[in-house]
Formats: sequence, structure tokens, C-alpha cells
Amino acid sequence: MNRLLVMLYLSLLACSSAQASLDLANKNACTACHAVAKKMVGPAYQDVAKKYAGQKDADGMLAKSIKAGGSGKWGPVPMPAQAGLSDADALTLAKWILGGAK
Ligand code: HEC
Repeated sequence: MNRLLVMLYLSLLACSSAQASLDLANKNACTACHAVAKKMVGPAYQDVAKKYAGQKDADGMLAKSIKAGGSGKWGPVPMPAQAGLSDADALTLAKWILGGAK
């Protein structure tokens, strides 16, 4: 019984932090150019997760790449730098994306 409660609690926690990441993506207008499962202006987050799956330090690398923006990795359209984004938020978003943006 206790174990069930703990599991319920943990799954609620996981849910709310995923929701927080989605809110963060919405707040920073990431979702204007990105969708989870579909290419828009930028690549689908699930494609990003696939591309870097199993790569060491992918979260740190991606956090930098989110802040700095970039071009040429996914296509001809550049991503503008996200100057207003804190390092902590960039890392949260990078980890969320690498986890499949769920
Ligand atoms: C104006 C449109 C636009 C906005 C806003 C935008 N992106 Fe992007 N994003 C792009 C494009 C275009 C690319 C592909 C760039 C390339 O080909 O290198 C990209 C690439 C990426 C990548 C892959 C980077 C890599 O190194 O492979 C990630 C992760 C990403 N964006 C996350 C975000 C997050 C998180 C935000 C919000 C803070 C955001 N983007 C806001 C257009 C956008």
C-alpha cells in the first residue's frame, strides 16, 4: 500500500515537472518554431532527442546550442540566439527535449 502511494506520488512529480518544462517552452516562445513530434520552422523535439540519443554530455551541449542559436545543423533556417534565457532554464529545456519532450 505504501509503495503504491510512493509510486503515485513520484509519477505525479514527474508529470508536474514535464508540465513545467512545457510551460517554460511556451513562455520563451520556443513553441512558435518547434513542436514535439512535427517539424515546423525548427526540428521536432523528438527528432532532436533521436539525433543526440546516447551522446555523452548532450544536455550541456544542447543547452549551449539553445542559448546561442545556430544554423546549418538541421537545414537552411537559422535559430536566433535566446539571450533572455537563463543557463538553468536552458539546461532544463535541453534535458526535457532529450527526454523526448514528454
Ligand atoms: C524563430 C524560430 C525559433 C525559435 C523561437 C526557437 N527555435 Fe530552436 N531552432 C530553430 C531552427 C530553425 C533550428 C535549426 C537550426 C539549425 O539547423 O542548426 C533550431 C534548433 C533547435 C535545437 C537543436 C539544436 C542543435 O544543436 O541541434 C534545439 C534543441 C532547439 N532549437 C530548442 C529551442 C528552444 C528550447 C527554444 C526556446 C528557448 C527555441 N529552440 C526557440 C528555430 C527556432
